[in-house]
Amino acid sequence: MNNLLCVVGARPNFIKIAPLIKAATVGFPDIKITLVHTGQHYDYNMSKVFFNDLKIPRPDIHLGIGSGSHASQTGEIMIALEKVVLKARPDVIVVVGDVNSTLAGALVAAKLCIPLAHIEAGLRSFDRTMPEELNRVITDSLSDMLFVPGKNAVLNLKNEGIPAKNIFVVGNIMIDTLKQYLSAVRKSQITKSLRIKKNGYAVVTMHRAGNVDNKRVLTGLVKALVDISRVIPVVFPIHPRTKKQLKAFKLDGLLREEKGIIIIEPVSYLDSINLLMNARLVLTDSGGVQEETSVLDVPCLTLRDETEWTETLRQGTNQLVGTESTRIVSAASRILKSKRNYKKTKIPSYWDGKTSVRILQSIRKWVAKHKVS
Ligand code: UD1
Ligand code: UDP
Repeated sequence: MNNLLCVVGARPNFIKIAPLIKAATVGFPDIKITLVHTGQHYDYNMSKVFFNDLKIPRPDIHLGIGSGSHASQTGEIMIALEKVVLKARPDVIVVVGDVNSTLAGALVAAKLCIPLAHIEAGLRSFDRTMPEELNRVITDSLSDMLFVPGKNAVLNLKNEGIPAKNIFVVGNIMIDTLKQYLSAVRKSQITKSLRIKKNGYAVVTMHRAGNVDNKRVLTGLVKALVDISRVIPVVFPIHPRTKKQLKAFKLDGLLREEKGIIIIEPVSYLDSINLLMNARLVLTDSGGVQEETSVLDVPCLTLRDETEWTETLRQGTNQLVGTESTRIVSAASRILKSKRNYKKTKIPSYWDGKTSVRILQSIRKWVAKHKVS
């Protein structure tokens, strides 16, 4: 038996781990997964709803860590996780993405000399003020198996001296989830319940610390949303960090006064994809949403100056527009004036829904080769 201990903690982690657990259950009887939830995200609509929607089994262990500064959150997860790992002694620890739970899982694995697999390795924004970039660089440098979504990630890792034998091009695991749930997504009633017309609204999601923790930047973003909402309704499922910051900077009233802005709580995965697929335009600073809009062929304006998902710029529907309001509004109005999508998407190779199976096959082979009997 190959014992894998998977560490998840935040919304995008749940979406990434769901297809891996499903693939293991269906096709890998020799792989046993222990699921650890760190508790980084804990609201119903940031955590449990994804377990329900995506049929993820209840975590075997819940660390219940919650929110905190970077050091305290990462440190507390490490302290609690170390105890679990010492008891479970897994063959491999699997971490996904780039959140603090990912970093904590990676550090615990490396310090206890347990082989580490990182799903969604090799992505780089080259902006070290982003907490996620630090998490990625450190996690990758500690990983034994680096599962990357595409060629660009391979290049990034080789440039950092990661040996080629540790890098596996497997594709994008978020697209496994997307493909598996497309028919359920189509049944979502979200556009009906919000009384918006298909192809007649924009969606915005934002939560990046660099965008929402800075008053000047967030004010510019809010101004852009207000301007756009006077042309087309803007649906805004608010991330808890953003909700907190809008209130702290007293910008929430401004948004709520605008008739065209529809503020809602974070939505479930099925509702999120339904909202994205039927939108005329998406504005986001989310990593996942950049990938999903490219595959769904929906125009995406990314509210950042750089992205780690460069394939979505070259082959997808993504465009970087920064955070300055006039630039965002003019990019949005160009899209809204065009009759069809300004760009036709080309889905990157291996973004085919089979990433989880490729990962499990590689882990199985790797363990067989390295296991000390
Ligand atoms: C985290 C990740 C980010 C990822 C995002 C996905 C880090 C450093 N950041 O950002 O990379 O893109 O998740 O959504 O790991 N809060 C709640 N309820 C919750 C969770 C959080 O109210 O269930 C609030 C708390 O006030 C908390 C704040 O949101 O302090 C930020 O949460 P945190 O997990 O630290 O970072 P995110 O912004 O969610
Ligand atoms: N998402 C969701 N509900 C929302 C907003 C986003 O289910 O209210 C989904 C989105 O479709 C994508 C994932 O959450 O699958 C992206 O997660 P997030 O933006 O929190 O993190 P990131 O990808 O930026 O790390």
